[in-house]
Amino acid sequence: MKQASDETEELRADFLRCCHTSDWTLPARWLYDHRGSELFEQITHLPEYYPTRTELDLLREAADALRASIGAGRMLVEFGAGSAAKTPALIKAINPTRYVPIDVSGDYLRESSAVIMERFVDLEVTPVEADFNRAVPLPQCHRRLPIIGFFAGSTIGNLEPLQATDLLRRMGETLGKDALLLIGMDRVKPIEVLQRAYNDSQGVTAAFNLNLLTRVNRELGVNIPVADFTHEARWNAARARIEMHLVANKDLSFSIGQERVTFTAGKSLHTENSHKYRFEEARMLLRCGGWDPIQSWSAPDDWFTLFLAKRDVLEEYFQDGDDNCVAQ
Ligand code: AVJ
Repeated sequence: MKQASDETEELRADFLRCCHTSDWTLPARWLYDHRGSELFEQITHLPEYYPTRTELDLLREAADALRASIGAGRMLVEFGAGSAAKTPALIKAINPTRYVPIDVSGDYLRESSAVIMERFVDLEVTPVEADFNRAVPLPQCHRRLPIIGFFAGSTIGNLEPLQATDLLRRMGETLGKDALLLIGMDRVKPIEVLQRAYNDSQGVTAAFNLNLLTRVNRELGVNIPVADFTHEARWNAARARIEMHLVANKDLSFSIGQERVTFTAGKSLHTENSHKYRFEEARMLLRCGGWDPIQSWSAPDDWFTLFLAKRDVLEEYFQDGDDNCVAQ
């Protein structure tokens, strides 16, 4: 288990790097302290934020096909389960034997696991508090249940392509040889729709972004003038992604420990990326990560796609004992 002080040191280092390097994006996980997770939860209910609703509709529409392709009795491993809002629809469709939600936020994990346990009494629920960016040892699988991974919300889009393929490969290591993966990926669409989704009229996304500064102030004991920054969602066409920035409204400066940080008006902190994919780009990303897309379901306007993929790694990539099961 990591110490709180390690986390603080990591936040300090990452935040300083973000202040000093304009083309470096802060790792997205720093947006999700308790308040950040609450605000993100609110975002998912906004009329402008289409991904959550769209993906849930897709899961419901695809229920029969998912049941036919995945089959009952698997171990369902969810990466970044969060509040697990979409999980019941998937559990109803594929009737797994065991559910293993993985999340860094212990609070959310325990709450959502309790809800799932109550609702599906025959399901074994084994939450794992872990950072899924590292290979995660799964609870003992002596019955060798076939595994299905679930990675919802287009969370993959937070990562640069190189990091995304690394993560997909690590997921393959975690899940093992014959695993399937169900993954939601957000699609390239009219810019106005994206702008509205990431700069909503109620200002919840702005509050979510600005909360990062409040968190930094609290956890690093500094005094950044939060009111002097403005939330901005920018479409980066060359990289097909929405970028969240915090732009300084005026020249300002603050200290973090010994370090003095200065911002001239208009300079920004780059706090998040949300990559959007064209259909064939999404398929290629999955293949580069060692997964062969075998089926897909897209929303009517192709705003979002759910891919079912099968682990597909060249024989020479397998290590000895490619099996992450541990006794429990
Ligand atoms: C949780 C990463 C999928 O990129 O759409 C929502 C985060 N940021 N609004 C996304 C987010 C601003 C979200 N993901």
